[in-house]
Amino acid sequence: MKKTTIYKAAALLSVAAAGTAHSDSEQAWSDEKISSLLSEMTLEEKVLLTSGRDAWSTQPIERLEIPYIWVADGPHGLRRAPSTDTWGYGDQLPATCFPTASALSATWDVALLREVGAALGTEAAALGVNVLLGPGVNIKRSPLGGRNFEYFSEDPFLAGKLGAAYIDGVQAQGVGTSLKHYVANNLETERMWANSDVDDRTLNEIYMTPFEIAVREAQPWTVMACYNRVQGEYGTQSMHMLTQKLKEDWGFEGIVVSDWDAVIDRVEGIRAGMHLEMPGKPGRVTNRMVIDAVKNGDLDEADLDRVVRDILKVVLRAKAVEDTSRDQNLDEHHAFARQVAAQAVTLLKNDGPVLPIAQDKHRKIAVIGEFAVNPRYQGNGSSEVKPSRLDKFIDIVGAEYGDEFEINFAQGYSLADDTDFSLIDAAASLAAESDVALVLAGLPLQYESEGIDRLHIDLPPAHNRLIEAVSEKQPNTVVVLTNGSAVAMPWVDRVPAIVEAWLGGQAGAGAVADVVFGKVNPSGKLAETFPVRLEDTPAFLNFPAEDGEVLYGERVFVGYRWYDKRGIEPLFPFGHGLSYARFAYSDMELSSEVISDTDTLAVSVKLSNSGKVEGKEVVQLYVRDVEATVRRPEKELRGFAKIALAPGESREVRFELSERDFSYYSTRHGQWLAESGEFDILIGASSRDIRQENRVKLQSTKKLNYRFSEYSFFRELWSNPQLKPLLVELMPAWLGSLAGEGRPPEEAVIEPFLQDQPMIKFPYFTAGEVSAEQISGFIARCNEMTYTP
Ligand code: BGC
Repeated sequence: MKKTTIYKAAALLSVAAAGTAHSDSEQAWSDEKISSLLSEMTLEEKVLLTSGRDAWSTQPIERLEIPYIWVADGPHGLRRAPSTDTWGYGDQLPATCFPTASALSATWDVALLREVGAALGTEAAALGVNVLLGPGVNIKRSPLGGRNFEYFSEDPFLAGKLGAAYIDGVQAQGVGTSLKHYVANNLETERMWANSDVDDRTLNEIYMTPFEIAVREAQPWTVMACYNRVQGEYGTQSMHMLTQKLKEDWGFEGIVVSDWDAVIDRVEGIRAGMHLEMPGKPGRVTNRMVIDAVKNGDLDEADLDRVVRDILKVVLRAKAVEDTSRDQNLDEHHAFARQVAAQAVTLLKNDGPVLPIAQDKHRKIAVIGEFAVNPRYQGNGSSEVKPSRLDKFIDIVGAEYGDEFEINFAQGYSLADDTDFSLIDAAASLAAESDVALVLAGLPLQYESEGIDRLHIDLPPAHNRLIEAVSEKQPNTVVVLTNGSAVAMPWVDRVPAIVEAWLGGQAGAGAVADVVFGKVNPSGKLAETFPVRLEDTPAFLNFPAEDGEVLYGERVFVGYRWYDKRGIEPLFPFGHGLSYARFAYSDMELSSEVISDTDTLAVSVKLSNSGKVEGKEVVQLYVRDVEATVRRPEKELRGFAKIALAPGESREVRFELSERDFSYYSTRHGQWLAESGEFDILIGASSRDIRQENRVKLQSTKKLNYRFSEYSFFRELWSNPQLKPLLVELMPAWLGSLAGEGRPPEEAVIEPFLQDQPMIKFPYFTAGEVSAEQISGFIARCNEMTYTP
């Protein structure tokens, strides 16, 4: 399948995509084969193929030897039901539960994501699953989003790049993916119906971009259409989204699968380019509707043929590359899941430094919190994996560190959402007698779930009280958080160290131990801003829906774009994460000070490890448009690279930027535009820790036609040196009278009241010097002219 790159700034140092693990016998899904099958299919059979058979499989057509394929959730592990016609909640087959997407994204490591994908693909192949339903690349618009744990980031570039790597990894194993939930599916409340009222620029720049990157770069076999409406239209029946954008603009070659029970009007869906309705049950009613629509001429059979063709291609291909002889590799994957979770651990604060725990300082360790014996490791809903094993923090530290340290445990809180002061007091007493306290706190399972948004960003009151009580007694209090999305930390200044462990999957407990005891140097960075208060967040006034309408009022200012622009201090900014090493940035260089929009700009910076231990740093590159004709964010992530360095080692990190990296989406022109002018290239350790910067001047080579209408303002034309003479030519007498006797009309001083009038009114203001027809002709003439943005 084709691959194209829209952003060049991906880490140049990342490893190459995993090789194709199977030898494709392309004959099995050749165009000829598909055409021949299609010509033999009856109308009824074609329609059958466009709806599922049952919960998890497509419809086989035995007469023509068309097989079925098996699809299963996803995304951070396989939820494979015992059979295709059972739901698999609780009785799903054991599989490796990897860290969820919000943890995976904190690694900022595309090579690692590819490896995770490969492991997931292997498990899927071993269990006969042909398509894994993931990854989810929806934007975390609000920390309240109930499925944030399943999504990567608030930033479209990061989400897209990680999604593409995950897809590459899975698909290299001969298993397809389903990129979900397309698109603007950013809340759970009323998710089946709510309308995402988002303007075109924002939709393109923020919400569609991760899908675009993943489709162009990794060609997922399937894309999952969302439940919600977008700009008034259901995601499962939007011609604009499914055909114009996905297929025509981005070159998507796979099929669109509806989210489960997301289809409203199946006929309209097929027309729009929605291929497969899932699951099977609705088809018992909707198949007839499609057959009737073809018979009575409402639906062109060619539209149906088009989707059938694409489905056949995916089904035949999936079956041809299927390899169920693979081993699930559960032992190996458990060990790998621990490594991945350790890469995700994000050290938010480490004063002192308290961490890592060292034998000479911290002999007696208090492990506090029910999560140490009853781990929280994934979210609620369709993504729930039945883990092949589940590590507990208390067991791991006992087994791995029990000989060197004295380790004691206090429960601190129970999983019931109440506050038991006797548990808190006992924990505080244990902390007082210890050298260090590790408080495992976070969000219980019921706080984060598909189908339900959060109502606040607070930890359970018992956890906050516990942290406060322990930190009063023990200066070396380390808070270890497990949660899938941002939380408030009212005690942030009272504790010296905070470790964000995310939802680390089945081996997450070991990963936390690896980091706090210093076996692994933390290198996670926040892929989402942690706000001080919910009131500070971008969508605060517009979340969730009201009367089915979700107004995306913050527009492109999502995540750090919002905090930067509004000058709001976050609790921890996007991109933040500490290390036990120290990194220095120097010698930033640009390949040129002036470029055109057809050039590539090479950016390099030297990164050095000036610390005492080996470590990894995520070098982040942001671009700021210094002078723009539209409101743009202060900075936008356009590149990142995860670099490992030994103490004293230095390395040059290189990025490449091209047109799209400087562009915004112009609603007026319906295209991406990089405007001429200056841009700052910022390189740093987080969005609020810029270490090096440089400026480049860009010259556009585009020639754009003006897009004026009769409703364009006089001011827009009068202030344009290219158009002013035409305006003077159009209404010389009126302008002359304003200029005053003896002065040329172009020197007329036009009062603001008139400048801000639309051209359509000028027949009145000129008392008939120009007619409505002349105004229309003038606008048409302007629009034939071109300019360079
Ligand atoms: C979820 C999808 C999931 C599907 C199948 C839907 O409700 O939104 O993410 O893949 O169910 O379980």
